[in-house]
Parts: sequence; structure tokens; C-alpha cells
Amino acid sequence: MYKILKKEILAPNIYLMDIEAKRVAKSCYPGQFVIVKMDEKGERIPLTICDYDREKGSVTIVFQALGSSTKRMAGYEEGEEFMDFAGPLGNRSELIDEPSTELHEKKILFVAGGVGTAPVYPQVKWMKEQGHEVDCIIGARNKDLIILEEEMKKVAKNVYVATDDGSYGFKGNVNDCIKDLVKTQGKHYDCVIAIGPVIMMKFVCLLTKELKIPTIVSMNPIMVDGTGMCGACRLTVGGKVKFACVDGPEFDGHLVDFDESMKRQQMYKTVEGRAVLKEKE
Ligand code: FES
Repeated sequence: MYKILKKEILAPNIYLMDIEAKRVAKSCYPGQFVIVKMDEKGERIPLTICDYDREKGSVTIVFQALGSSTKRMAGYEEGEEFMDFAGPLGNRSELIDEPSTELHEKKILFVAGGVGTAPVYPQVKWMKEQGHEVDCIIGARNKDLIILEEEMKKVAKNVYVATDDGSYGFKGNVNDCIKDLVKTQGKHYDCVIAIGPVIMMKFVCLLTKELKIPTIVSMNPIMVDGTGMCGACRLTVGGKVKFACVDGPEFDGHLVDFDESMKRQQMYKTVEGRAVLKEKE
């Protein structure tokens, strides 16, 4: 069993939990994910690792209570336990394996959308630990939905906050902010890492293609087994079939078929929607 050591509400419907999971904490890296199962009947929920403390043996997850399972998960309190916390799964971030000399020459921009800020944070933190500071855009619809801003400011060189409604920071979406940095302010970036809703990653990639900036995205489709056997997390990258759980979750954003991925997500949303209605009956 995996105990909830800490629970915090970061924003409306967005929760942070520290989970006691010694084995995962010992071997995980930024970019990887875990699959959480609350109890015997619980759905398997894939969540990217937000932080970890190897000494304490804890792993931090952040999730949005949107569907029936995540809403149920949000009802768990400190001291309660999850039945399963499988991981670390997937590959660690590519940047971690880059020779430090090459990494230090790169100007990197992270683009985090909404709850996608959680998986961006450990990568930016890891960079800082390697002595390499990067820029980061945190985007959300409004001020209330901005998460981990203070934490990010401690590890990134520059943090730019963008809200669609202009209630905080830059007024506009993350793409408007990228355009402002690159086109108006003349900033140069060698690489963009975008993590957030699929639609956001799609449009960031269309822009960075135009700007000729290589871009990495982290795909988080529906997952079942997390081991490449069930095919649930299938996506197309560069015309080839890939599985987010074993081949990713990070991919070259300029090669991902986002439209197909969104269609598959819609299909599963209907299944999830039925589960919510059933609960209400
Ligand atoms: Fe089953 Fe990836 S989750 S193949």
C-alpha cells in the first residue's frame, strides 16, 4: 500500500499529493510517470512525476479532478493509502542524457500549460541542479489556474506567466507569449519543451515549426497496462505507430499526429462521461 503523506489544493480542482513510494522515489527521473490504482476496482490512472525525494522515499503527483476516477482520487485524504503505485514508467527526459557540454550551450524554453506545469517542474529543477538555467512560460486560462509559480521561480532563470483573460501576467495564450519573446524581444531558443493539453502542444508545435525551433512534447494519452501490451496509448509519430508508455512519453513534437491523438482522446472521453453519469444515477 502507498500512503498519502501530504495533500494540497493548488487551484480549483487541481491537487498535489506526496506519496510514500520508496522504490519509485529511488529510481525515477524527470519525464517518467507512474500508474496509480486506488483500490481493487479502481481505474489505472497515469500521472507524470512532479517531484521526488529520494531520502524521504516520496513521490509528488499533481492531478486535475476532471473525470470520475480523478474526482474519486481527490476525495482521498492524508494518511489514506492507494493500492498500487506502479513505476517509474516510460523514458526519462532526453535532455537528461545529453552530454552536459552540449546542454550548457543550449538556450531552452519550457512551455507549461495548466496542470502540465507539474511535469515541467522536475525537468527545470533538474536543469538547475546541473547548473543550467532555462526560461519557462506558465500558461492558464486565468490567474486562479496558475500552479507552481513560486516553485518554478526558484529553479528557472525567467518565468513568464500568461493568462488567456489577462487576469495575471502576459495577456494571451502561451503561443502569443512565445511570439512576444522571440519576435518582439528577439530572444533566441535552440529547443522548446512543451507540456500541457494536446491542443496547446499542437499549436505550439505549429508555431515552433515556423520559427524553426526543435520541440519536444510529452504525450499523456489514456493508458491501461503501461507496458506496451494493450495498445491503448497508441499514437502516430513521423508516420510510425508508437506507444506513449514505452516509446515516450516524450516525442519530437514536429512529428506527432496531434489530430489523431485528440480523436482517440474524444473516444475515451465518451466512455469516461458514461462512468460519471452512471455514478450520478
Ligand atoms: Fe498499454 Fe501503452 S498503456 S500499450
